[in-house]
Amino acid sequence: MKFFIDTANLDQIREAQSLGILDGVTTNPSLMAKEGIFGDAAVKAHYQAICDIVDGDVSAEVIATDFEGMVKEGEALAELHENIVVKVPMIPEGVKAIRHFTDHGIRTNCTLIFSAGQALIAAKAGASYVSPFIGRLDDISSDGMDLIEGIRTIFDNYDFGTEILAASVRGPMHILECARLGADVMTGPLSAIMGLMKHPLTDIGLAQFLADHAKGQH
Ligand code: G3P
Repeated sequence: MKFFIDTANLDQIREAQSLGILDGVTTNPSLMAKEGIFGDAAVKAHYQAICDIVDGDVSAEVIATDFEGMVKEGEALAELHENIVVKVPMIPEGVKAIRHFTDHGIRTNCTLIFSAGQALIAAKAGASYVSPFIGRLDDISSDGMDLIEGIRTIFDNYDFGTEILAASVRGPMHILECARLGADVMTGPLSAIMGLMKHPLTDIGLAQFLADHAKGQH
């Protein structure tokens, strides 16, 4: 399973990268705004800075909602760095843009996926990744994991090469459940990744080891 971090915060990206287990970064316009990054030049410079930290795929989202606009923005983003994956929303114009990018060798991440049917269409258009938002489904009492399971079955039935990028991950249990169901990638906050490492018995055991070692120092 690949681990992506879902943030535009450079400090958090550096911290995740320092763990040695980071495979990529996903961003969206809300995450860029949260960091105070606005305007074409600043956004592009920020993507460049992220690509300089992480040796892995970096999803950069288009803002346009029409085919021509998405193609123009996506081509400019893809030119920034070979690791840029153009993030495109799941709307009909987005599907056309994904097909265009696929046919022109530009990798894509189809975002805002909330149903297996949307994932199937994105895969048929040649998306490199689909991003089902599991946390936002859980927020409205819908089971995000059912969606991961459904997409996995469909993609396996037809050998689609599109990777399932479980997005809107909120905590370590989301990551574990996605891993159990065979999601190819997860993206979430640093806290969700750090949460996987926590266990009270590890802390108690380490404290005991250190205390026992200290006895020999007197
Ligand atoms: O980047 C897309 C997705 O991961 C958003 O997550 O937490 O805003 O629902 P969230």
